[in-house]
Amino acid sequence: MEVAWNTRYDTGIQIIDEQHQELFRIVDRLRRMILEGADRSHVEALLEDLVACSERHFATEETYMGRFGYPDLTQHVSEHTSMLTSLHELLVKFQESHEAMALMVPTFMEGWLKHHISDGDFGFVTFLKARNLA
Ligand SMILES: [Fe+2]
Ligand SMILES: [Fe+2]
Repeated sequence: MEVAWNTRYDTGIQIIDEQHQELFRIVDRLRRMILEGADRSHVEALLEDLVACSERHFATEETYMGRFGYPDLTQHVSEHTSMLTSLHELLVKFQESHEAMALMVPTFMEGWLKHHISDGDFGFVTFLKARNLA
C-alpha cells in the first residue's frame, strides 16, 4: 500500500507541508525499492536522503518554534532527536547486512510521521496560528 501524504496532515504552513510531503514521498519510494529488491547501494543512498531530509525538516520547525517562543519546544525537539536516534539505529542494523531490517525503516517512518504530525506538529502550528504568526 502506498505511503502517502493526506490532507489530514495539512498544517497550512507551506514550507512545513512541502517538507512533510517530501518525507512521505521518500518513504514510499524506499518501501517500493526494498519490495522490488533494488540494489543495496541505491537503497542506502535513499536512506541517506531520508536522514538529510528529516534533519532539514526538523531544523525548519525548530527555527519557527524558537523564533516565536513556543512553550513546548524542548519536548518537541526531544521527539525529533529520539526519532533520528531510532532511524540511525535502524540504518546501522541495515548496514550490518540485516537485509530483513530494511522494511523496518519505511514502516517505522510511516508510523512516526503520521503520529508526530498529528500529535506534535499540530501543537505548534495551532500556537503560531492563534498568534497570527503563520
Ligand atoms: Fe515536528
Ligand atoms: Fe514535522
